[in-house]
Amino acid sequence: MDTIIKKVSYKKNICKDDFFENEIYETAAQILKDGGLVAFPTETVYGLGGDALKSTASEKIYAAKGRPSDNPLIVHIADFAAVERLAAEIPEVAKVLMENFWPGPMTLIFKKKDIVPKETTGGLDTVAVRFPSHPIARRLIETAGVYIAAPSANASGRPSPTTAQHVAEDLTGRIDMIIDGGPVEIGLESTIIDVTGDTPTILRPGFITKEMLEDVLDKVEVDPAILEEHMHENLVAKAPGMKYRHYAPKGQLYLVEGSDANRVVEQINELVAMQQTAGKKVAVIATDETIQDYQGDMVVSIGSREDESSVAHALFSILRKMDTEQVDVIYCESFTRANLGQAIMNRLLKAAGYQMIHTDDV
Ligand code: TXA
Ligand code: MG
Repeated sequence: MDTIIKKVSYKKNICKDDFFENEIYETAAQILKDGGLVAFPTETVYGLGGDALKSTASEKIYAAKGRPSDNPLIVHIADFAAVERLAAEIPEVAKVLMENFWPGPMTLIFKKKDIVPKETTGGLDTVAVRFPSHPIARRLIETAGVYIAAPSANASGRPSPTTAQHVAEDLTGRIDMIIDGGPVEIGLESTIIDVTGDTPTILRPGFITKEMLEDVLDKVEVDPAILEEHMHENLVAKAPGMKYRHYAPKGQLYLVEGSDANRVVEQINELVAMQQTAGKKVAVIATDETIQDYQGDMVVSIGSREDESSVAHALFSILRKMDTEQVDVIYCESFTRANLGQAIMNRLLKAAGYQMIHTDDV
């Protein structure tokens, strides 16, 4: 299959009088209406879209990504009224969340209506719904006149794509079209909140943090599977079960954590020297504050501790770089688990297969 790749400018998108851009949206919309697949930018990461109400389109998405078909997709909408067509019930807490955080990087899990095929929901009776804020995503949904089922547009197991080039690396020849809208803003996938139970529960942390949700809700729970206790089972730096490896680079990634930042730097430098002696290609994922303190074959900054959104933005593209540079071993600094740090650490810990080194214990 030939994959069409088209660039559209984010800004021009606001005015709808550009002939060439209109044609790009029309082409993409037709592909979706015909049951094909189009990758497109959202504010979080690039999505791989198909018509959410067509079971064959969802099957194609699973095949293109190499994703197990019991892992449900998120349905993207471009207006509030769409929720009523997809969700069997809209609880009061959901309305509060929709008013505060939509359009934006938040996905809500509802009980589904019958029109949503089980292929889209991975066999579940619930449906994940998101109203993205990105103008390209919204215009695509509006032009096609369909709801778009879209997981992140990466091959299953690889880091989520934050540029159209990442999508092309993973999916060229497997999908019909890629709309290139430049690098995304946020860089981490949406916050997923289950609103089907008594208390809203965060299933995946994201840019909308627990703290932000607590500002508008009485109570928020966090799924234990993304909490500390789960991580601590795997503290020893040995290869964990494959079920934990998600965004994993090909090299071995270790997170290094400690209360004293200088000690973390010293520890990483010692480990780097040791690995280099053993003939390994070693990378350090540092921060703007520490980058000058490291030795290594490759030292990169993931962003500034003063602005964790810069870390979120760079995270997946740095993990991909570790593969293109064919690094054997990677040491990465850790972050606090508060605010956006919770989502950053969730992704880093998954990528590291929960391999952590604690300098306080050494
Ligand atoms: O930011 C995002 O959410 C991006 C962009 C493209 O919108 N999409 C994304 O999709 O990250 P994906 O498929 O990579 O992740 C969706 C997650 C999966 O972990 C899936 O298991 C969960 O959402 N999910 C989807 N439907 C669900 C449901 N009904 N119940 C529980 N979890 C669900
Ligand atoms: Mg994904």
